[in-house]
Amino acid sequence: MGKQRILSGMRPTGKLHLGNYLGALSGWVKLQAEYECFFMIADWHALTDHSNTAQISKDIEEVLIDWLAAGLNPEVSTLFIQSHIPEHAELHLLLSMITPISWLERCPTYKEKLEMGSETNYGLLGYPVLMATDILIYKATRVPVGEDQLAHLEISREIARKFNYLYSRVFPEPKPLLTKSPKILGIDGEKKMSKSFNNYIALGEKPKVIKEKVMRMFTDPEKIYLGDPGHPQKCNVYNYHKIFGQRLGEDVELISRKCKEGKLPCTTCKANLANVLIKTLAPFREKREQIQREKQMLYKIIKEGREKAEAVASSTLREVKTAMKMLY
Ligand code: TYM
Repeated sequence: MGKQRILSGMRPTGKLHLGNYLGALSGWVKLQAEYECFFMIADWHALTDHSNTAQISKDIEEVLIDWLAAGLNPEVSTLFIQSHIPEHAELHLLLSMITPISWLERCPTYKEKLEMGSETNYGLLGYPVLMATDILIYKATRVPVGEDQLAHLEISREIARKFNYLYSRVFPEPKPLLTKSPKILGIDGEKKMSKSFNNYIALGEKPKVIKEKVMRMFTDPEKIYLGDPGHPQKCNVYNYHKIFGQRLGEDVELISRKCKEGKLPCTTCKANLANVLIKTLAPFREKREQIQREKQMLYKIIKEGREKAEAVASSTLREVKTAMKMLY
């Protein structure tokens, strides 16, 4: 039996952050050895809340550079841009005909936007249908994503099931693959790390900015004075120490003990974390700069990815139309 297939994607919203890396990208890098991987830059998905399109091509480039710097290997995996494969738009239309609006209206990410009072549009409501298309057109069985994408993935499975039931069994039902850290909180310690909440640390962040951002991080609110005992299990800074420090040999048990005894000032703890992050991200930044000097290769990668993705997408679309008796 051949390798199982993976598809996942990221919206081009600028440089990627620690949440993107820990929740998805770090997993993708490892999965490349075991699965046949398709990784997609979801430029159409970025349009649902960005009507200003002038920045998109630059943002696509940034995502691609981040991917390569993090270790995605274009020799092994297919890296491509969603809008390069117009078959996605056609399948999206066909799948939209079998997707009840009620499934989309109860999607938590859509409800959140409504509650925030943001302007909603047709594309936003249909966001999960387009995402289902991205996955199903490659017949992916596994989708490595962060926790915030699980509700979308559930809709993808329902759409696959409904299509298979109505016509014939064309699509496998895609299952999620989560990393050990599927939800990373931002520096506010409250909401998930995200560009839109401006609470992120980018992977390519300069050391000075890392330091500034970490020193602003929210810590245990119950630890007010220097000698107060802290509650590391409730503190996002401690969580980051656990995720990043351990890899560099930091004694996180000792940090926890000293914090609980009131012997570790938050400023010291944060300064240590800043150093850990600066060290962790240094090789990534170097790799990024190197890729930036050889930018020409990005176009070659995307061209090759387009060809490989196109072949699979057009073959599935044909199968879909055959199942729907619409090849005329
Ligand atoms: P996007 O661009 O918002 O995020 C890309 C990936 O990063 C993960 N992620 C996080 N994980 C943990 N903690 C966080 N704070 C955090 N922030 C982001 C996301 O879960 C995601 O895995 N709809 C998708 C893009 C997409 C897609 C697809 C994904 C389009 N088509 C098909 C999978 C399959 C999105 O907006 O991801």
